[in-house]
Amino acid sequence: MDTATTYKTKVTAAFNGAAATYDRLGVEFFTPMGRRLVQRADPRPGQHVLDVGCGLGATLLPAATQIGPSGHALGIDIAEAMIDQAGREAERQGIGNVELRVMDGEHPDLPARSFDLVLGSYSVIFLPDARAALARYADLLRDGGRIAFTSPVFSRDTFPFLPPLFSRWIPMSLLQHLPPAWHPEQLHRQLHSWLEDPADLEAALDRAGFTAVDIADESVEMTAASGEAWVDWSHTQGMRLLWQHLPADEAAALRARLIAELDALREQDGPIRIDVPVRYVTATLAR
Ligand SMILES: C[S@@+](CC[C@H](N)C(=O)[O-])C[C@H]1O[C@@H](n2cnc3c(N)ncnc32)[C@H](O)[C@@H]1O
Repeated sequence: MDTATTYKTKVTAAFNGAAATYDRLGVEFFTPMGRRLVQRADPRPGQHVLDVGCGLGATLLPAATQIGPSGHALGIDIAEAMIDQAGREAERQGIGNVELRVMDGEHPDLPARSFDLVLGSYSVIFLPDARAALARYADLLRDGGRIAFTSPVFSRDTFPFLPPLFSRWIPMSLLQHLPPAWHPEQLHRQLHSWLEDPADLEAALDRAGFTAVDIADESVEMTAASGEAWVDWSHTQGMRLLWQHLPADEAAALRARLIAELDALREQDGPIRIDVPVRYVTATLAR
């Protein structure tokens, strides 16, 4: 198996394992981010929308609602369990104009020029060669179509995917337990470097055939019912990578520390609120 395939197999297994509890453990993050992405992308009634790496539908479902019954929203995800759960969630919310398919979002097998908008919230960051995928998304769009996606605002001194606040609580020495391929520097070099500097991001979109690039960093208010809820939730997210590789005693010590630090942020018995910087990117097809 080549490196990209091995990596995708691990990502798929991780999200299949997380699907049952993904974003449902007393923490709100992906849902407000997805809603905001749809607000920024502003799809019109009747449009055809593709959501790459749709997960449980945090972006897909509000987009489907906005385009209405004359529109069509297709969600694709590499993890079958995510697609199953998304289908249940669409049914639960009574949203009928949604189609869900298990598919590798890096190589979407879909007809050219069949969408008005391609969305991807916290998903393009998982693609081994996302810049090449952008050109494929351009091919899927009709003239004047648009792309809109989110990513973390990466910084070099924290574990990827975590709010900067956490660098105070997670000793960098713990990262030595990660296999080399999951080390933040390696992830950065292989997957995220093009997203960090807005000039690189704009250049990547330009090369893929997009123009009018808009990059806006905004905070999403992540809320967690308690420190324990946040730590349990973190096992279903990017931080799962770290938990999986920590020796039991180090994992227990980190869990206790994070719970104590997070609970100290609670206002009386209210939830914990943490502002997490998120990058929203939108662009229009040049043709
Ligand atoms: C952090 S989750 C975000 C899910 C959703 N967009 C949201 O905002 O809640 C990332 C999603 O990307 C999916 N994913 C990762 N690699 C993928 C790939 N190559 N093709 C399609 N989906 C992928 C994962 O299975 C997971 O559901």
